[in-house]
Amino acid sequence: MVEPIRTKTGVPGLDEILYGGIPQNNLVVISGDPGSGKTGLVLEYLYNGVIKYNEPGLYISLEESAEEIIGFAELFGWDIKALIDKKLLNIITVELYDFDKLKNTIEDEVNRLGAKRLVIDPGVVFRLYFDRELDARKRILSLGRMLKRIGCTAIITNEISLEKSSSLFGLEEYVADGVILLYHTKLEDRFIRSIGILKMRGTKISEKLHPIRITDTGVKVLAKQELFEDVK
Ligand SMILES: Nc1ncnc2c1ncn2[C@@H]1O[C@H](COP(=O)(O)OP(=O)(O)OP(=O)(O)O)[C@@H](O)[C@H]1O
Ligand SMILES: [Mg+2]
Repeated sequence: MVEPIRTKTGVPGLDEILYGGIPQNNLVVISGDPGSGKTGLVLEYLYNGVIKYNEPGLYISLEESAEEIIGFAELFGWDIKALIDKKLLNIITVELYDFDKLKNTIEDEVNRLGAKRLVIDPGVVFRLYFDRELDARKRILSLGRMLKRIGCTAIITNEISLEKSSSLFGLEEYVADGVILLYHTKLEDRFIRSIGILKMRGTKISEKLHPIRITDTGVKVLAKQELFEDVK
């Protein structure tokens, strides 16, 4: 396999289980349980992009206001507001349910910022746009193509209950280049968090589930540990 150019997430441990990072221009879906760390992880991805890798980023919020997201980032010590002021990052809350308009908004704003990283959180609302699966597939593919054309590595979050595995995967996971799963599950008397890479086109991946931690400095993956070592 030709070694791809990679977009490093900078999230401790995550690039390690991706053998170096997300192949550039991939469209990745992060599917996970409620409170599993999806928003924390994608914010960390964008924040690191600016701070560590000099890559501007765009956060499309389909639910929370920019203020709420800025406040959430502050809990981890990330001053998103300063980066927005420097035009290295932006948060846009999109309430419209018009897919073509969403696409245009993304393209305009990515070009304006020179963004290399894009996040859409939560992307689950995508389903509401479409009645028919074929339409949905076409449009998600067209979004993916547009993102590749404008040179972004994108992460779309998806809220699902991973335990209810009968309806585990929606269309997004099939169309996407990569799927990362975040589990927040009950084990005996506590909840445990873990991460697994279901697929990532263009790179080798760890085939194990790894524990994750959310701390005052953000999300981290314990890449050297396997889940069931950790919880014994
Ligand atoms: N310093 C911390 N230490 C431990 N847990 C924390 C810390 N800061 C935040 N958390 C927890 O991290 C969890 C993950 O939050 P996050 O919003 O990233 O998950 P999510 O998957 O996006 O959730 P949702 O399904 O609501 O969108 C929250 O429930 C929060 O309580
Ligand atoms: Mg969230």
